[in-house]
Amino acid sequence: MVLIVFNDVWKEYVMGRVRVWALRGVSFSVKRGEFIAIIGPSGSGKSTLIYLLSGIDRPSRGSIIIDGLEISKLGDGERARWRRNNVGIIFQFFHLIPTLTALENVMLSMELANVKVKDKVGRAMELLEFVGLRDKADKFPWELSGGEQQRVAIARALANDPPIILADEPTAFLDRANKIKIVELLREANALGKTVIYTTHDQELAGYAYRRIRLLDGVLVGDLNE
Ligand SMILES: Nc1ncnc2c1ncn2[C@@H]1O[C@H](COP(=O)(O)OP(=O)(O)OP(=O)(O)O)[C@@H](O)[C@H]1O
Ligand SMILES: [Mg+2]
Repeated sequence: MVLIVFNDVWKEYVMGRVRVWALRGVSFSVKRGEFIAIIGPSGSGKSTLIYLLSGIDRPSRGSIIIDGLEISKLGDGERARWRRNNVGIIFQFFHLIPTLTALENVMLSMELANVKVKDKVGRAMELLEFVGLRDKADKFPWELSGGEQQRVAIARALANDPPIILADEPTAFLDRANKIKIVELLREANALGKTVIYTTHDQELAGYAYRRIRLLDGVLVGDLNE
């Protein structure tokens, strides 16, 4: 069942007089429950694709339809609301809030207006358990290793139980052991039913995906499904 449709998507960045076409007519579709790596050299448009998929940014041309909704048509506020409930994002730099503990960082993302604090704590603890950090719930980001911080970021991405998980070079600054741990967590999230799409430069990491989409200069040049 089709979840995501990218239909002839173009994205142009304008900085003063300089214009860059970061994506040039990219089309593909994703079925619910897929586990996909986006690969390609630096500057090929991988991060741009993730930003468009997440609704952080909009395409210059073309349409993006997710679960029947054309998100590329929504205004900024609507897209932000849509994103909170539908997408969890993991970035290269973990983006945790330094003054909050691991538990609080996860709880902060919860969009559960009517849920009691006690239940939020319970749910956040379950998520920290999922990423193997139950015993570090009260630590601040600076008390955690890079790998641990990224695991907190994964717990946070799952906080609202979104159907889609996106990750942009989630292991760029991690050693091999942590890299494998992170991609295995993404795969576990996929096994639980999440559709997972991550970008990577790393051959080994790309090898974990069941499908690899290759970009080159903003064009989709390969789509390998195992
Ligand atoms: N905010 C921006 N303003 C202007 N140009 C941008 C912006 N973001 C990206 N670009 C340009 O768009 C193109 C695609 O960039 P993008 O970040 O999507 O590539 P990438 O594949 O993620 O690269 P990397 O592997 O280095 O992360 C590049 O030429 C880049 O310089
Ligand atoms: Mg990038």
